[in-house]
Amino acid sequence: MTSAPIRVLIVDNLPEFRAQYAALVRDWGYEPVVAETDGAELPDLALRLAAEQRCPIALVDLRLVEDQDQGDISGLELVRRLPYTAAIVITGYDNTPMVRLAIQEYGAASFVGKGEAPEVLRRELNRVADRLCLRGNGPEVQWQGGLSSMAGRGEMFPDQPGIPADEPEALIRFLFKDKPWVRLTMITESNGETGAEQISPSVNASLRRKSRVFVAEIAGERALQVVKLARTEKIERERENYRRYVEAGIEALRRPELTGAALLWDMGAIAYRLVGFEHLAEGKGQVFTRFYRRTADAATIVAPLRDFFSYAAWGDWYRGPHVQALRGTLVEAYDQSWDQALSRLEPLWRAQPSDWRLDPLAVPLPHPQRWFVEQRRRCEQLRWLRQVITHGDLHGDNLFADRHTAWPIDFERTGYGPLLRDFVELVQDVTTRIAVLRAEELPLVYELAVALCEPQAPHEPMRATRAILAHPEARKCFLVVQALQELAAARAAYDDRREYLWGLLCNHLFVSSKLEPESARWRRTMLFAAVICQRLDQWDAVVWPPPAWPQVEWAARQRLEG
Ligand SMILES: Nc1ncnc2c1ncn2[C@@H]1O[C@H](COP(=O)(O)OP(=O)(O)O)[C@@H](O)[C@H]1O
Ligand SMILES: [Mg+2]
Repeated sequence: MTSAPIRVLIVDNLPEFRAQYAALVRDWGYEPVVAETDGAELPDLALRLAAEQRCPIALVDLRLVEDQDQGDISGLELVRRLPYTAAIVITGYDNTPMVRLAIQEYGAASFVGKGEAPEVLRRELNRVADRLCLRGNGPEVQWQGGLSSMAGRGEMFPDQPGIPADEPEALIRFLFKDKPWVRLTMITESNGETGAEQISPSVNASLRRKSRVFVAEIAGERALQVVKLARTEKIERERENYRRYVEAGIEALRRPELTGAALLWDMGAIAYRLVGFEHLAEGKGQVFTRFYRRTADAATIVAPLRDFFSYAAWGDWYRGPHVQALRGTLVEAYDQSWDQALSRLEPLWRAQPSDWRLDPLAVPLPHPQRWFVEQRRRCEQLRWLRQVITHGDLHGDNLFADRHTAWPIDFERTGYGPLLRDFVELVQDVTTRIAVLRAEELPLVYELAVALCEPQAPHEPMRATRAILAHPEARKCFLVVQALQELAAARAAYDDRREYLWGLLCNHLFVSSKLEPESARWRRTMLFAAVICQRLDQWDAVVWPPPAWPQVEWAARQRLEG
């Protein structure tokens, strides 16, 4: 493979050395990028050049400030600050402890004495370049389905033209550097199937998608892996969250195994073993969305959710020393989880009418966005709020499920969040996306929302209506939501049900802002939100739903078995 010469950053305080290294490096087929300055500006200029020119390798003089000062390790400090550049440290002093320090503490890739023959430096340079798979070595990357590496960048991230075309390939080669080849097939947008399952792709899959996920077949390995490419910060966050919360918090059999990660200036890649691979042949390894839709029996659907929230899995984060008091209001906390999306939309939402009609419901409903802006301060009545480690993006495509176990994936947003956040996000997804309720079935969605809002206390079971029980899909949805509510009460042990309703309201509104207005899911989402507003408005009223609203025929209270 012949490509552009490899850029090598050269950092030395003496101009004659800089010139000498530049000449050598060029002779050896590299492209020198020289930081032409000295004194205090040198490290800053070096950092800037490394980033601007995306230099994968640097030659860094150990003493950048004071040539005679044995204590000057300014070169090493620079090495530590170079995030994606492998540095070869050069010094005039032969000093073994310093070599060790450079490599172990400061992350240098190698070390060469100034007195050594140029051949030694050349050998090290080549070795470091080989280690990064920069010299045509490393695996052959086969992009399936017409995605070439270069075109891939554009196709994968059309909205981010600044990303250099070769970064995806460099990351993959580095991740699988010991293998002769790796074959990548992009996982398609929707994890559900065709037809009914396509009616509403997840918010993540369509509108928020800023990553691309591939199944990787690797030469000589039976097990497939999954590779996610995304902006550096996203991959870095996911890797860090995985280490802190997933590896430390979830049993090995209930989490995907992380096999590697690589970061460059613009993009990063993270690889996991495919979840549920052993089950694929039996058709069992599948995202929760699909599992839900393929399974008629609600108790079966709930089993992996119970497993997920058990103490062996995520439920462990709901007890013990990690539970903290939540500072600020609940709405502020949810808002913060979504990067202040709610506050940012307030000006827009304030301009909405206060009464709102949603065909075919014949009554005016509170406009949930307007209601929220005007009433959000009322959540200050909630006391004893807590925060816990939440998955942070728990929708049906971020959870794999079979009849016994659930495996979460996608940990980019994992971390502290409001106590009920994961329950709220899952219920939002189940009620407005995963459950297959058609546009004309909005009156049933209304009944589901009314039923969800009725109980006064976390442990009070939700009551179904006759219409819900008569409709298999609505009934299934009801039973799953009911079970999730009981799980929330049992695991999170909260005592004011309004905490749950406020959380749901925030999430419905957040999701509403990501959806196409008037789309079927938008209408369901806004309807749930409106009904919750009304319920919070009349929390102490004895009559529910309000007399002016379409009435429902309540069925006897019943719980899901199991
Ligand atoms: N370890 C894995 N095993 C099997 N499939 C996976 C794995 N990780 C991701 N996927 C598939 O790729 C999709 C997207 O991955 P995800 O990590 O959720 O990325 P994103 O940040 O784009 O949502 C998932 O919904 C799932 O279908
Ligand atoms: Mg995801």
